[in-house]
Amino acid sequence: MSAVPDWDALGFGFLPTDWMYRAQGDAARDPAWDAGHFVPFGDVSLSPAAAVLSYGCGCFEGLKAQRGVDGRVRIFRPDAHGARFARSAERLALPPFPVDRFVAMAAGLARRNDAWVPPAGKGSLYLRPMMHGTEPLLGARRPRLAGVIAYASPVGNAPGLDQGLRLKVMASARAALGGTGGAKAMGNYAGVLLHKEAAVREGFDDLLYLDGSGRLQLGEASGANLFCVLDDGTLATPPLDDTILPGITRDSALRLARDVLGLPVQQRPLSLVEVRARAREVFCTGTGWTVRPVAMLGGDGWECRLGPPKVATQLGEALADIRSGAGADPFGWTVDVAGVADGEDQ
Ligand SMILES: Cc1ncc(COP(=O)(O)O)c(C=O)c1O
Repeated sequence: MSAVPDWDALGFGFLPTDWMYRAQGDAARDPAWDAGHFVPFGDVSLSPAAAVLSYGCGCFEGLKAQRGVDGRVRIFRPDAHGARFARSAERLALPPFPVDRFVAMAAGLARRNDAWVPPAGKGSLYLRPMMHGTEPLLGARRPRLAGVIAYASPVGNAPGLDQGLRLKVMASARAALGGTGGAKAMGNYAGVLLHKEAAVREGFDDLLYLDGSGRLQLGEASGANLFCVLDDGTLATPPLDDTILPGITRDSALRLARDVLGLPVQQRPLSLVEVRARAREVFCTGTGWTVRPVAMLGGDGWECRLGPPKVATQLGEALADIRSGAGADPFGWTVDVAGVADGEDQ
């Protein structure tokens, strides 16, 4: 059995747990995916010619299970993550995994690894489902064979709202128009690392990429979506296209802002010029960070300091209450893992 960590020292990083999930897919079969099963966590073996290893035919998800003060373990919007997993697979020419099976797999994984779900308030169990093209291929084409693997790792709480991010605005886009930025594709992440290392050396925390339009409009951070509160109180975020990942936290923040906080919300292009002139507040959203305020945007030879988080704090607290079960769940976003039929041999 893997060691249970010191809950007070949890950060964000990989810690093994006891159980993982595996399913095998064959696009030529109907249904494409076999029954799937939970197995002890361990290494996987692949043909060196597996499509994923050369051609990056793979996508993944990241979602969290959290223990509430009532002891129940809830997953935040697993159906929305499952739907995005299926859309990512389609974009990457892989056989989509059914959403109901994704939800059952996530719940079963959290239940089996219950000993690693941190106590209430100490963090969450991060679930990492992945899909890989496993067919041995020399010459890129749609892989017929694929595998789903999902593992779980306990992670600590995101840093507090008072620690505003310093984002370096990149002169480039993270993903090309027409490319795979709207999917959670493996290949979207490696290209960021070199830029991020350089930005961290300059004193930044992360990157803010432009969208792919070539018109100096903001896109998203390396692993989170971007929001801006403008001088008239409107909450604005760049519109979704194939350069921006449709974040589940982004969608949740938009709905909470509009339907609960009563704010005017807009999904529209935001230029760097407009944000520098009109932004009261900027923040990022994502499963890892939930809501993180941005304290400063900067680039080569300029910087722009941003106001203190107000809307970010309200949204962060509202989302935290829903995720932990401490508050009402008006949109039915959380799923209690005890109430979902086992994901094994579905
Ligand atoms: C590039 C990118 N943008 C945005 C997000 C935020 O998405 P979500 O809120 O679904 O975690 C993520 C994280 O998954 C990401 O990798």
